[in-house]
Amino acid sequence: MSEKFVKVPGLVEEETMGVLREQIVLQAKDGDLIVECGVFLGSTVCYVGQALKKLGVKAKIYAIDNWLCANISDESKQFVNRSESFLEGFTLNVAKCGLTDMVTTLQMDSLTAVDYFENNSISFLFLDASHNYEDVKDELKAWLPKVKNGGIICGHDFSDPSVNRAVVEVLGNVNESSSKCAYWIENQCLKN
Ligand SMILES: C[S@@+](CC[C@H](N)C(=O)[O-])C[C@H]1O[C@@H](n2cnc3c(N)ncnc32)[C@H](O)[C@@H]1O
Repeated sequence: MSEKFVKVPGLVEEETMGVLREQIVLQAKDGDLIVECGVFLGSTVCYVGQALKKLGVKAKIYAIDNWLCANISDESKQFVNRSESFLEGFTLNVAKCGLTDMVTTLQMDSLTAVDYFENNSISFLFLDASHNYEDVKDELKAWLPKVKNGGIICGHDFSDPSVNRAVVEVLGNVNESSSKCAYWIENQCLKN
């Protein structure tokens, strides 16, 4: 991997990167399984992956996206070269960051990808796919059994009313970053 930390363009602000650092990077151990749903061009995957490599942690990251990018603005779609698909853009970014060996890519809907994982197998889950109330609720319910007891569930856009409502209904009281960009909770705190 190159010495330089590569910054990949994306839709996640510094505050959420800070949450990912505190809740995932600094807590991860060798062998941990990290799942990100809704990765777009890979800004958070590349941030977490490079930070882990720098610390010498040998974790595995699964990056899930259908790459339909239905909820991405035209402005943000310009982050990728015209000749590339979004998936190609993501794959190139992962390679540029020296993370091809660490990242497994699953191009599919989040709810389909759930079936690829054993119950109680994921140490860290980061959700930033659909922001539709029903979708977020379905996703959280489907992914929860896959997260280890004591594992961390985090997500983006807690300030979005649809995301907020779904998260509170499924997870109850969660921790939130100061401007509600991100939320997180330990799996053992969940409501039954
Ligand atoms: C808000 S963007 C993610 C931004 C990204 N986390 C970043 O760091 O820039 C949402 C992404 O979720 C994907 N997406 C939306 N609904 C999805 C679903 N049901 N399953 C899988 N991916 C989905 C979109 O294709 C898009 O790339």
